[in-house]
Amino acid sequence: MKIAIIGGGEGCLNLIDLIERHTFKEIKPEIVAVADIKKDAPGLIRAKKSGMFVTHDYNDFFEKDNIELIIELTGSMDIYNDILAKKNNKVRVIAHTTAMLFWEISDILSIQEETKQKLQETEALYLAMSDEMIQEEMVIISPDYRILDVNVALLKRVGMSREKVIGRHCYEVTHNHDHPCKGDLHPCPLREVLKTHKPSQTTHIHRDKDNKKLHHSISCYPLLRNGEVISVIEIAKDITKDLQLQETLLQQEKMVSIGRLSAGVAHEVNNPLTTVLTSAMLIHEDMSADNPIYEEITTIVNETLRCRKIVKSLLDFARQNRPTMALNNLNTIVKESLVLTKKQGSFHDISVRSDLADSLPRIDVDKVQIQQVLINLIMNAIESTPPGGEAVISTRYTPDIDVVELTVQDTGKGIGPEHLDKIFEPFFTTRENGTGLGLAIAHGIIKEHGGTITVKSEPGRGTCFFLQLPITIKDNHGN
Ligand SMILES: Nc1ncnc2c1ncn2[C@@H]1O[C@H](COP(=O)(O)OP(=O)(O)OP(=O)(O)O)[C@@H](O)[C@H]1O
Ligand SMILES: [Mg+2]
Repeated sequence: MKIAIIGGGEGCLNLIDLIERHTFKEIKPEIVAVADIKKDAPGLIRAKKSGMFVTHDYNDFFEKDNIELIIELTGSMDIYNDILAKKNNKVRVIAHTTAMLFWEISDILSIQEETKQKLQETEALYLAMSDEMIQEEMVIISPDYRILDVNVALLKRVGMSREKVIGRHCYEVTHNHDHPCKGDLHPCPLREVLKTHKPSQTTHIHRDKDNKKLHHSISCYPLLRNGEVISVIEIAKDITKDLQLQETLLQQEKMVSIGRLSAGVAHEVNNPLTTVLTSAMLIHEDMSADNPIYEEITTIVNETLRCRKIVKSLLDFARQNRPTMALNNLNTIVKESLVLTKKQGSFHDISVRSDLADSLPRIDVDKVQIQQVLINLIMNAIESTPPGGEAVISTRYTPDIDVVELTVQDTGKGIGPEHLDKIFEPFFTTRENGTGLGLAIAHGIIKEHGGTITVKSEPGRGTCFFLQLPITIKDNHGN
């Protein structure tokens, strides 16, 4: 529908805008001409820019045969009546008052449209907040630190209901504090956003409902209205596993460099040490016990033997050769390791016994290396247990995860929580004559076999080492 407008004021300008912006379903209105006696009428200027026909005399409209509708916006009844008298039958006319009425209706409709859009936005936000799949924690906070809304992930971590959380201070819920976060370690991202009106990012340590430490990477975004921060949205991502992985990688790198260094030193020291030991043993053999330096030579021999043991452990630790795999029954390896350690057990008055599974599928392992691990664990148990105690080695098969499991449980002094995460590190020892390499070697061997070794300990009550070795080859000859 081709439209001509009389009166190029604000109303005309708005009408041009409305028709240009809106997509009409039924009729396709198009403004083709504007008339105004004033040259600087805004609607007229706009129409000219858009390439429409403009004139100072509406009578020009009657010469155009494409106009289907004339809208009179000046409000003059004289003009309206004049148009009615002059127009041909095909042209329709809308008076100023009718145009106003439609104008107001369109206003109401656009407000309704806005409300609908707002409702849709609110619904989207509500859906996001209740979506179980979103792993990141989301919380909307007012500038006075009060929680306006939270998502399911956060509720799950803190173990509270939405009703209990909304309205409370964010620092109470996420940190159990009675004051906002502060300091370099725990800066408050909300305060930063309020100050700068820009997004801010930080990391915090939060606790879950079981008081377990979690590292969170927090991003905070301002929600602005008229240039003011009305609230902020905080999104927290759990990066605990990423940090642990990073730490493990660092630890592995450390192990590799210690291994290389140790191998180099051990290799260099090994030969001269053998010469010292052989010479000292020769002197010792030829010497009678009443010789004044007999005791000193004995010390030299014993201490050199101890050095040899350390060097051997270092070489084992830095061992480059890959394991020689063969199908073995873990029960047999346990029995042989018990024979080798029995003497040490009775020497310390510790009963070392086994509680073996009746039948175990064979596993593909390097027998010598697994025996070395077992001897290390049994010796540790014997050395950590006061006389009269016991060490029990058990085995079992867990079919649902297809692993053979072994535990070495003692009734010894246990390991303090401050040492628990250090015991697998090379050179960590609490024993006077220990090298601190036994568990580091065991850890390396089990890892190389695709298994795991973990520990649980209760100081004063005992320690339990737990090994899992995967069944990589299906074997029907278990016994
Ligand atoms: N069964 C256990 N009970 C208590 N503490 C233990 C036990 N096993 C290991 N530990 C602790 O772990 C540390 C490290 O053990 P690891 O076997 O690596 O070295 P070590 O026994 O000290 O020396 P070595 O190299 O001679 O074996 C020990 O010094 C001890 O503090
Ligand atoms: Mg040891």
